[in-house]
Amino acid sequence: MGLRNKDLLGLKQLTAEEIMEILDTAKTMKMVLTSGNKKTSHLQGKSVITLFYENSTRTRLSFELASKYMGSASANISATGSSVAKGESLLDTARTIDMMATDIIIMRHSHSGAPHFIAPHLNASVVNAGDGMNEHPTQALLDMFTIYEKLGSLEGKKIAICGDIYHSRVVRSNAIGMKKLGADVSIYGPKTMMPVGIENLGCRVADNVADCVKDCDAVMGLRVQLERQHKSLFPSVAEYSKFYAITPEMLELAKPGALLMHPGPCNHGVELPTAVYDCDQSVINEQVTNGVAVRMAVLYLLMARRNQI
Ligand code: CP
Repeated sequence: MGLRNKDLLGLKQLTAEEIMEILDTAKTMKMVLTSGNKKTSHLQGKSVITLFYENSTRTRLSFELASKYMGSASANISATGSSVAKGESLLDTARTIDMMATDIIIMRHSHSGAPHFIAPHLNASVVNAGDGMNEHPTQALLDMFTIYEKLGSLEGKKIAICGDIYHSRVVRSNAIGMKKLGADVSIYGPKTMMPVGIENLGCRVADNVADCVKDCDAVMGLRVQLERQHKSLFPSVAEYSKFYAITPEMLELAKPGALLMHPGPCNHGVELPTAVYDCDQSVINEQVTNGVAVRMAVLYLLMARRNQI
């Protein structure tokens, strides 16, 4: 069946069938990734460029490794050290990369909608690696893949997401994608970090952490994004961790053995104590591995789409 569009801009644009195709392809890619020989030839003779206007460890490195494991030429451009620092516009930068016969551009940008803006101007496929506070589709895909792999399905599963909802592109992509796969998503965070109308994504806004995590199959903490806050949205870290953190006591309210997740990077002692981050139920490290498998799947399916065109 494959993907319908040349770009992967958000989970808003994907059908449930397309999401499942990515997750099933990621299963195969994880077998390759965890085998003795990670090399495939799916992207041989192709080029993948990561264009990052914001910092990243997991997303950028996993895309770079994924493309290299699959045999493509790959390179990275970041805002510092490129002609972006001389004032070159986003569109000129993207067109310049496109004109080097690039097949796929992976872009992270601080402005919501930046990848949607450049995609129609380019021959290359554009993958959104996080745009402002809008979406982070491949993070949500790896989160969903982790639940799919561990629990067999997302249909009917109860998922809790707690933390800085306002600034989180991860929560938006997850709420959209998980609903498409039939999960029930509850969210909770400080009122000052809860965007108006978030329930329109199809998730329930809980009354407190206990209400959010009760009887859930998976519990996800979100990072407090201090770099996006222009004024303090909570009184102190001590109060935040008292009222909004996923503590061992809160995790006990979820189903026995519920998955403990976090997209990373984590502020230890703020959204999660280290004891929870490292607990037996934590799949945070597996999420990182799954990020490579899911990004291999995304690159594979986008290249298959390009080959059709
Ligand atoms: N989860 C995530 O996007 O992490 P990075 O910012 O390290 O890519």
